[in-house]
Amino acid sequence: MPSYAITGASRGLGHEFINQLSSDESNEVFALVRNPSTATKLQILAASRKNIHIIKCDVSEPLELVAAAMSVAEVTGGTLDVLIHNAASINMASVGLYPSEYTPDKADFTREVFNEAMGTTVYGAIWATNAFLSLIENGQEKKIVHISSGMADTDLIVKTDFAHALPLCATKAALNVLVAKFAVELRGKGIKVLAISPGWVDTIEGSKLPRMEAAIRALLDQFQKAKPDLQGPISPQDSVRLQLKVIANLDEKMSGKFISHHGDQNWF
Ligand SMILES: NC(=O)c1ccc[n+]([C@@H]2O[C@H](COP(=O)([O-])OP(=O)(O)OC[C@H]3O[C@@H](n4cnc5c(N)ncnc54)[C@H](OP(=O)(O)O)[C@@H]3O)[C@@H](O)[C@H]2O)c1
Repeated sequence: MPSYAITGASRGLGHEFINQLSSDESNEVFALVRNPSTATKLQILAASRKNIHIIKCDVSEPLELVAAAMSVAEVTGGTLDVLIHNAASINMASVGLYPSEYTPDKADFTREVFNEAMGTTVYGAIWATNAFLSLIENGQEKKIVHISSGMADTDLIVKTDFAHALPLCATKAALNVLVAKFAVELRGKGIKVLAISPGWVDTIEGSKLPRMEAAIRALLDQFQKAKPDLQGPISPQDSVRLQLKVIANLDEKMSGKFISHHGDQNWF
């Protein structure tokens, strides 16, 4: 029975991973969410599928990750095949800022927004990996996948003139480095580690509202500088379907890489 644990599974891509993976009854699927009581969509799905286990876990709290790994181990007998660390938290006040706006007089703000991104994307990735490591070692697949972003690719940043969202992009770049480091260390144990970008995905609730549509249009204009025929964001369903194909093919040769949902450097 292949087993999967997904962090940040209450909504967006995390929820869609749970949806697609649990549609196969032979999979055992663990949905790690920081607040199970507000994860209504997930609760409804889990009520109709016996192979979904909801576990409370804030990934910026190391002890919660340890407790979550123990809960998974109780069900599986101490193993886990695939860990997907998907959770990420971004302070919205930082998204529209240019790097030059993080002036020394705003040091407290800078620390605050970077700490929020670091807590999930960097510390969360390290703690999630290490909390589940012995389970992964005991598993058949031995795969650890971290959801990164094409926006951590410096060529893409330059091509698209994308100067905003510094904490998000810089912490995803740090994530790519830690993935390569873990891959090197864990190679001898047969454990594969991957950083995957999901593409540009429409996970924003209310993305059809006029204000959001304008923001998405502005992003599209920027992204078309790198890919002129780009039409817009893809659906969570398509992104997860493509990512799961890449994850299924993850082998020793791919371990440590930073690739897209297409399995290459095509970020859109
Ligand atoms: N969508 C895109 O276009 C895109 C592009 C590149 C990369 N990505 C990456 O793909 C991943 C998923 O993105 P998304 O668009 O699905 O994001 P999303 O809709 O904002 O969902 C983020 C998820 O992370 C959870 N989360 C946040 N902080 C957490 C914490 N401390 N502990 C546990 N869970 C936490 C949220 O839970 P709550 O419901 O409790 O808030 C939510 O389930 C992220 O790593 C993101 O950076 C997305």
